[in-house]
This record gives sequence, C-alpha cells and structure tokens, in this order.
Amino acid sequence: MKISGTHYRSVWLADDGYTVEILDQTKLPFEVQIIQLRTLQDAATAIKEMWVRGAPLIGAVAAYGMALAMHQENSDENLRQAYAILVKTRPTAINLKWALDRTYQVLENSEHSQREATAYRIANEIADEDVELCRKIGEHGLQMIQCIAATKPSDETVNILTHCNAGWLATVDWGTALAPIYMAHDAGIKVHVWVDETRPRNQGGLTAFELGSHGVSHTLIADNAGGHLMQHGKVDLCLVGTDRTTARGDVCNKIGTYLKALAAKANQVPFYVALPSPTLDFTVWDGVKEIPIEQRSGKEQSHTYGITPEGIRSWVNTVPPGTSCGNYAFDVTPAELITGLITERGICDASAEGLQTLFPDLCGQP
Ligand code: MRU
Repeated sequence: MKISGTHYRSVWLADDGYTVEILDQTKLPFEVQIIQLRTLQDAATAIKEMWVRGAPLIGAVAAYGMALAMHQENSDENLRQAYAILVKTRPTAINLKWALDRTYQVLENSEHSQREATAYRIANEIADEDVELCRKIGEHGLQMIQCIAATKPSDETVNILTHCNAGWLATVDWGTALAPIYMAHDAGIKVHVWVDETRPRNQGGLTAFELGSHGVSHTLIADNAGGHLMQHGKVDLCLVGTDRTTARGDVCNKIGTYLKALAAKANQVPFYVALPSPTLDFTVWDGVKEIPIEQRSGKEQSHTYGITPEGIRSWVNTVPPGTSCGNYAFDVTPAELITGLITERGICDASAEGLQTLFPDLCGQP
C-alpha cells in the first residue's frame, strides 16, 4: 500500500540482499522511519518492542530473523538458539511459531553452507505468500461487503467498525480486516470506518493513518463507543483480525474485541473476522482456556504516548503515580459470537465444521 504516493511493504530486504528493513511502527503515524535489522537480536527486539506488530508481520519478521541468524553463524547451536530467542518474543500470535517451525524444519536438514540462502528464500516466500493470502481475503471480504451494500439504498454508506490495526502494517501488504475495505472503496462502494482507538497502544492511530492514506472515510472513536453506535443503527458490520484462531473457531485478538462481539450480537450486527491460514491453530480447541494472553508493561496503561505541537514525542502519565495497572493485550471471542471467518479460501462459519470444510488439509481430519 502507499504512503504519500510511494508503495511500501511493512518489511523488505535491502539492496545488499541480507539487511532486513522495516517501518518503525512506534514512530507512525507521526514519522515514517525505516529501521535496518542486521542481526538476530535486532529482529527479536523489533518484535518484542513492537517496532513491528500484527500477527502475520510478526511471523514474517521472525522468519527474516532466522535468516539473519544464519548469516551470522550457520551452526546447529545457533539455529536452535535463534528459534528459542524468537519464539519467546511475543506469546499470543501463532503466526510467529508457524513461521519459525516452517523455517526450522527445513534448515535443520540443510547443509550448513546452504542454510543462509535457504533461510532468506523461505522468509521471502513467507512474505510474498502473505501478500497473496491477504489479497484473496480482500476479494472474499469484498463480496460480503457488496452483499451488505446491496441491502441499502445506493446512496447510503456501509458503516464498518474495526478494532486495533489489521491493515497492511499488521501484515506484509493489504492487511486482513482492512483488505476487503480497501477493495470495496476501490470498487466504488461508499464505505465509512469507525476506528476503535485501541488503548493502551493506540493501534487505531495506525488504522486511521492507513485509511487516510488510501482515501477511505473514517472516524476515530473511543474504545467504549462501539456499543452506543450499534444501538443507534450506525454500524452495518464489525470486521476485525485475529492473532490465533482455534479448531472450533474461537478467535484471539486485541483486547476489547470480545466486548465488541458481545455488543454486535446484542444488536444483530454481523461480526466477521478476517484471517490468513497461518493464523489457524488446530492444536487449540477452547481459546479462553488454552491461548496464552500476553501481559505487557503497566506503563503502557498508566501513560499515553504522543507528540507535542513542537514535534516532541513523549510518554505522558495519566494516572496517580504508583497506580497498579493491568495490561492484558488480547482477549478471546468465542465462536458463537462470530458471524463468519473470512479466509483466503473463502468465508466459513466460525465452527469446527466450517474450518474443516475450507481447510481439510490443515486440520488433520480425514
Ligand atoms: O499487539 P498487536 O498490535 O501486535 O496486535 C495486533 C492485532 O491484534 C491484530 O488485530 C491482529 O494481529 C490481526 S492483524 C492482521
């Protein structure tokens, strides 16, 4: 997607063929700053400190992290250590482990001398595949938005509520939840997006930045506003991403998603979740009981990060000093609250049967 007319992916290889470049998402939307990752540790820090974030992008950067590690030293010990360091960077998004497993399984059986080239090849494949998966999600989701638009008078807008950032900055390009929205906008459908601010890290600012760059009409709202808007008929559809989707169709996404799903159910608003297949975890059934929920620093809760009119970026304390803060980064939305899952293979029910129909090859069922 584009920033000021220039096409970017969220991660790419530099011209030297080994340095990995990313957009520092902690600087966005105020500043477009490119960071060079040259070591395994750089990649691990980028994921842990959320210079990059969003489940599919975390997976892609982790794969590049393995490649950087093999560039540094291609021994068995370094391979194992790289995996162990990267897999611990963030616990919830399953794309991280998926990408590391895929890379590790090939590298452990490769000649040492081939490991670096093989790791870069796999990382490039993962990145390119992600773009294609998201493009297909966009096409399937577009059909769903077209159906909703068809139920309204032609001059009326389709109002979509989204939570967190599930756009191109969270993937390699296009995004998951935002891909159908971009395609609907490009197809001439009148869409307007209610963008949840998404405290404490304000990923809604990234979503607003993306939508603004693409010319999509949007309004940033407080996280607590969605229920009110739904009660007043101002939301036609909720559309979010996911960091992990279980075998029975539960989805784990940014904290607050569950409350939106409850409000959507109570107000008969369709609630869709967009995901590429690497976000599926068929080893987990009950998302509430089984998915590890990341807990982050209380400082993200007690402070807010922003920029002054003079252009100085800083954290500002918003609570009494010393207040104990809980910072749960994700929650689980049970399958029964979800209208449908939008995947690269089409749209299915959020259920074991739905997922088995679309992904018989992945779910381990005959
Ligand atoms: O903590 P983050 O910013 O990495 O969380 C991101 C999300 O929750 C996204 O909604 C999710 O990864 C889906 S992105 C395609």
